[in-house]
Amino acid sequence: MGRPIGIFDSGVGGVSVLREAMALLPNERFLFFGDNAHAPYGAKAPEEIRACVRAVVDELLSRDVKALVIACNTATAAAAKDLRAALSLPVIGMEPALKPAHALLHGGQILVLATPATLHMEKFRLLMERYGEGAVPVEGRGLVECVEAGHLDDACAASALQSVLAPHLSRPTDAIVLGCTHYVFLRRALSRLVPGVPLVDGNAGTARQLRRVLEAQGLLETAGPGSCELHTTGDPARFLPLMERLLRA
Ligand code: DGL
Repeated sequence: MGRPIGIFDSGVGGVSVLREAMALLPNERFLFFGDNAHAPYGAKAPEEIRACVRAVVDELLSRDVKALVIACNTATAAAAKDLRAALSLPVIGMEPALKPAHALLHGGQILVLATPATLHMEKFRLLMERYGEGAVPVEGRGLVECVEAGHLDDACAASALQSVLAPHLSRPTDAIVLGCTHYVFLRRALSRLVPGVPLVDGNAGTARQLRRVLEAQGLLETAGPGSCELHTTGDPARFLPLMERLLRA
């Protein structure tokens, strides 16, 4: 049996990336870690996020992973550079999918929904410099908590989305970037709030990048059954069933 791929997030949001990666790489073994005990990362200072990430990455390395996927925009912005410098294995990160969303610009605005930490870090400033025309950064306050509590398409999710987006919806909106992996699970509730507005996330691109990197390094598994193991730093009785549910959502 080949070595597994380690994939992690602050919480259950990364399951949206895991789902995509499993579909694209059906022969791989995935080890998923949700750092639910420390979510949300998006309200923490970069140094605090890096400390959380180091602990999760140490866990994954102790299980001999062949590659790391940071299924979290916030953790990528805070820690990807350091991880790549320190580790010899491939590290695949994420960023808000502003580049593909930019192609949808049609004289309206592009709302970039992401955590406060993501929006305040250097990596996002650089992204805005390149693709920021018409883009309006929007802090998704309360949305991660909503998903961590399993509210995906109910009154709770609708009211959290409403309070985040209402101040911005008086102008024509060409696209909304889901710049946090948790928000992908709010797609249905969001479509109800902004029918017809394209919702753009970076998950498929991240899965494709993972496949490219594995292929290039001769690490891609092309035969045998794939699998995934779910872990949490939080309460397993609460988070493992939620992860299972989201994996099928
Ligand atoms: N899911 C994460 C992201 O993609 C972070 C959520 C959080 O913990 O604030 O940014």
